[in-house]
Amino acid sequence: MTDLFDPIETMGASRETMAMGAVLLRGAALPFESELLAALRDITVHSPFRHMITPRGYTMSVAMTNCGAAGWVTDRTGYRYDRHDPETGNLWPPMPDCFLALAIAAATEAGYPLFQPDACLINRYEPGARLSLHQDKNERDFANPIVSVSLGLPATFQFGGLKRNDPISKFALRHGDVAVWGGPSRLCFHGVPELKHGHHDLLGAMRINLTFRGAL
Ligand code: SIN
Ligand code: FE2
Repeated sequence: MTDLFDPIETMGASRETMAMGAVLLRGAALPFESELLAALRDITVHSPFRHMITPRGYTMSVAMTNCGAAGWVTDRTGYRYDRHDPETGNLWPPMPDCFLALAIAAATEAGYPLFQPDACLINRYEPGARLSLHQDKNERDFANPIVSVSLGLPATFQFGGLKRNDPISKFALRHGDVAVWGGPSRLCFHGVPELKHGHHDLLGAMRINLTFRGAL
């Protein structure tokens, strides 16, 4: 490897098992931090964050946008992946190289070396925002894991089982942490309770989450 650092080796530093097939790679995104934030700014110029409407008519407290070949969207008609940003009518911005490199390195480190993400949902939490317990199941092929990158303010990650009522474990997600779940835990319920107030040096009063999927 000719790179200045080997991202996979850097990631090896600290890993926690969340469940069978699910790991938390502590600080794995830190080597990519400034590139990720610069790329994120470019994306949001073209496809700004917006609060989407659920099929039941609720406005989500988490603001969202996407990049990649497809983006996750919700409106009164349901949840789906769409190649176009419904707000602009344009294709979603392409997946930046640094996003792709981090997602693939993290998936590989977690035991999913074949992951080729084609969609990245970008979640923006402000204090008070939350994401209730759900499964990620709008993707076509569950052989792909989910790779989820945390930036900015810390949050609690609720990670449960395959049934909504299964017991839930809680993990602190801090700036730079990457969670990966696939295989036997691919359809586990997960969620993020209300973000607490705080200030992050790079992001201020905000948490950003990048969720990579193989959607199409
Ligand atoms: C998600 O499930 O889409 C987001 C999880 C997170 O914000 O960590
Ligand atoms: Fe999710």
